[in-house]
Amino acid sequence: MSGAQGKAAEIAGAVGIIAEVDYSRIETRHSQGWVSEVARTSEEAYALAKEYVKKGEPCAIAYHGNIVDLLDYAVENNVHIDLLSDQTSCHAVYDGGYCPQGINFEERTRLLSENKDEFIKLVDKTLIKHFDLIKELHNRGVYFFDYGNSFMKAVYDAGCMEISKNGVDEKDGFIFPSYVEDILGPQLFDYGYGPFRWVCLSGKEEDLEKTDKAAMEIIDPNRRYQDRDNWAWIRDAKKNALVVGTQARILYQDAMGRTNIALKFNDMVRKGEIGPVMLGRDHHDVSGTDSPFRETSNIKDGSNIMADMATHCFAGNCARGMSLVALHNGGGVGIGKSINGGFGMVLDGSQRVDDILRTSMPWDVMNGVARRAWARNENSISTVIEYNKMCEGKDHITLPYIVDEQLLNEVMEKNISK
Ligand SMILES: NC(=O)c1ccc[n+]([C@@H]2O[C@H](COP(=O)([O-])OP(=O)(O)OC[C@H]3O[C@@H](n4cnc5c(N)ncnc54)[C@H](O)[C@@H]3O)[C@@H](O)[C@H]2O)c1
Repeated sequence: MSGAQGKAAEIAGAVGIIAEVDYSRIETRHSQGWVSEVARTSEEAYALAKEYVKKGEPCAIAYHGNIVDLLDYAVENNVHIDLLSDQTSCHAVYDGGYCPQGINFEERTRLLSENKDEFIKLVDKTLIKHFDLIKELHNRGVYFFDYGNSFMKAVYDAGCMEISKNGVDEKDGFIFPSYVEDILGPQLFDYGYGPFRWVCLSGKEEDLEKTDKAAMEIIDPNRRYQDRDNWAWIRDAKKNALVVGTQARILYQDAMGRTNIALKFNDMVRKGEIGPVMLGRDHHDVSGTDSPFRETSNIKDGSNIMADMATHCFAGNCARGMSLVALHNGGGVGIGKSINGGFGMVLDGSQRVDDILRTSMPWDVMNGVARRAWARNENSISTVIEYNKMCEGKDHITLPYIVDEQLLNEVMEKNISK
């Protein structure tokens, strides 16, 4: 449990139950206010959830126990669930990331070090049971989505072919959509919206508040619902108590939103209104990641298994002068399953930094939007058209020529019949 799930449920006005086998994790998140209630049994967890739903109040409930036991109970007792996902660490499923059913957290730790073969057997058995329960709940109307933790890949690796879309291998993906395919890709990444972030290096809370206010002034909440959501997110950020250490903020923004916010912050540093700021972003973004099981799973032009976009992103950011540029393997879904290009950029208030931001920030985002446009994603095509208009004479992204399907079929038929 990272805490994010509980916080997200409460911010979104939902009642959420988050299963966690490690009680120390629950204690931390409960003391920080990231979960509001703690349940020791499945029965107690669902009863609490029912109570909050009835009151019409959002609540994050931590359930101490195995997720498979929680789902077992839901299937047996016909509990209604609207949304279901999994965020166990399936990218490291045999190294302790996933706790088998039937043993507690301490027994799992012992078994992992003393008898790994037995541990692996139990993990596989639990994964398959987990999948069967999700399938049953899905048949009853539950919306299940993959959270990008390699859960479906882990089920497939445990020997369950039924989870693969083509029934043979994982090359065409899995039967349940990843949230990137269904939600994040078409609604955010296609436009360039991604997790831009900044850290106030002064460590002062007041600097973070000033940057929040400045970012809010740059977003036009009336342009799209995505802008409205992000505007509301930053407006309520302080109230939602999201900071546990570093004075840092994360905000979904598109290419020009990120560029304009970055320039504004650099200007504030120049004027002495705030201390220096370090910009960055999550690897889980539009442009920086090639990951066929997550970020690029919905790129339908056959290039979903390529790994060149993250490299372009990395090299372009280096050439444009970012302060810290990284190219690495892993990033979320695990080593061998993705390539990530990331950056860090120190805003020191200088003109030199302004110049770097003007070319590197759009590159860091539009590189990925361009690829999505070439994959014929409609929202990316319109985003590129808008970008080209805005940057006329300075920058230009090529677009695919969309061939009329009927014309193509006619030409093929005519020539093949010849
Ligand atoms: N989509 C995203 O944006 C995103 C973001 C963060 C993490 N992730 C992925 O999600 C996964 C988890 O990330 P994290 O940072 O929360 O990891 P984490 O290891 O901190 O948390 C996972 C928790 O699951 C618990 N757990 C394991 N097996 C369990 C079981 N059977 N029942 C109940 N609890 C169990 C563990 O004790 C652990 O606390 C990773 O694979 C990560 O890559 C995705």
